[in-house]
Amino acid sequence: MMQLVTLEVNGEQHEIAVEADGALLAVLRDGLGLIGTKRGCDTGGCGCCTVLVDGRAVYSCMMYTLSAQGRKITTIEGLAADGKLDPLQEAFVNTGAVQCGYCTCGFIMVAKQLLSETNNPDEDAIRHAIAGNLCRCTGYHKIVEAIRLAAKGG
Ligand code: FES
Ligand code: FES
Repeated sequence: MMQLVTLEVNGEQHEIAVEADGALLAVLRDGLGLIGTKRGCDTGGCGCCTVLVDGRAVYSCMMYTLSAQGRKITTIEGLAADGKLDPLQEAFVNTGAVQCGYCTCGFIMVAKQLLSETNNPDEDAIRHAIAGNLCRCTGYHKIVEAIRLAAKGG
């Protein structure tokens, strides 16, 4: 059954018809065209669909769209401002933490939450924060390095 909802995504209000039992990931990608958020496993096992909801990293494949009403949703498209990449995005590029890139937006969104809560996380804290995200390319070392670099201001 379809239902009309209003979602706040990257600071903009969107009124959109959604499946009552559908996942937020499908609405972001297929309804709003925000394809920076990736679909991987679709079952809560890889983290590449991660977005921020009220500042907290969530797997959008596992969240009902209806539960996201009235909350602030941020996707990777919402991070750059005034034509400038977010410091985390720059750090990922500068450290070589992006290879195929499929996992990257999920890691960046998780790191965004971490850095909003912790000024200068150590390696253990970073590895703990990214434990729910999988990367098949980088071996994780460069990702940890990128997050540390961004924490230090790039
Ligand atoms: S696509 Fe959501 S956790 Fe894998
Ligand atoms: S860069 Fe390819 S899966 Fe992470």
